[in-house]
Amino acid sequence: MNVIVIGCGYVGKAIARQWQHHGFTVTATTTTPARIAELEAVAHRAILLSGNDTATMQAELEGQHTVLLSVGAPRADAYEETYLQTAKTVVQALQSVSSVRQLIYTGSYAVYGDRQGAWVDETSPVAPANRNGEILAETEQRLLDAANDQLKVCILRLGGIYGPGRELAKIFARAAGTTRPGDGSDASNWIHLDDIVGAIDFAQSHQLHGIYNLVHSKPLTTRMVLEQVCRQNNLSPVTWDATSQSNRPYNARVSNQKLREAGYSFKYPNMVF
Ligand SMILES: NC(=O)c1ccc[n+]([C@@H]2O[C@H](COP(=O)([O-])OP(=O)(O)OC[C@H]3O[C@@H](n4cnc5c(N)ncnc54)[C@H](OP(=O)(O)O)[C@@H]3O)[C@@H](O)[C@H]2O)c1
Repeated sequence: MNVIVIGCGYVGKAIARQWQHHGFTVTATTTTPARIAELEAVAHRAILLSGNDTATMQAELEGQHTVLLSVGAPRADAYEETYLQTAKTVVQALQSVSSVRQLIYTGSYAVYGDRQGAWVDETSPVAPANRNGEILAETEQRLLDAANDQLKVCILRLGGIYGPGRELAKIFARAAGTTRPGDGSDASNWIHLDDIVGAIDFAQSHQLHGIYNLVHSKPLTTRMVLEQVCRQNNLSPVTWDATSQSNRPYNARVSNQKLREAGYSFKYPNMVF
């Protein structure tokens, strides 16, 4: 099994390591020359690849069986070049590559937008709340449009990512002791790194195609998450200003039922603090 992990950051590196343990031949990509040695430790090969480099993309996809697209934007103004441009380049390259059987993409539940806390599943229409959400939705669509009899496309819509090295206390360190807009009752959806690796591995071994939400089973409110994180880490509690509107545009309770019904068993069905 030849696999390429395009974008080998927090998620990509973890799955590259797992696939290498399975005995897969893993190619890992980065845009940063200084990361090559680090990635060589978790992959058969580590290469420099930018999401707009069609020639290198085509050369590197040739002979691969599975492509994992796991790029992440370094800045809020880099979504188009990171997600959409890279997706376009992958799709274009795949037109002249016949070996690839499956393309897996780690997207985001941000595409559901603000649903006032209502439950959403994969049949719910996307309703991005801002331009970056629109870019993520367009990225998914570009990739789904590339599916055919020979190529399965699997979109995983991830919740907020946490895990070793990206602990909740680190993520929320700056929020501690502050007053946040709203009452904290908006839903927030999270996923532990171990289940991201587990679900990507499952998607590959079961050749999943289509869209799957990848979030914990029970969404919590932002308030519950922050209270627990601050309490467990001896951080100053967060207070809420209910007279102003919440600035989180992702108020939806995301269901993971489809992935569970496909047979994936979550290591952490609920958030771990
Ligand atoms: N963070 C979250 O809470 C969250 C929530 C929902 C979904 N997600 C999704 O999870 C996925 C993985 O996130 P992550 O935390 O693993 O990201 P990450 O650690 O920031 O890693 C991102 C990777 O993408 C590469 N990259 C960035 N721009 C690129 C470009 N233009 N061309 C090629 N490669 C590029 C980076 O290259 P370098 O090695 O050069 O840095 C890096 O290897 C993302 O697809 C994101 O949409 C994240």
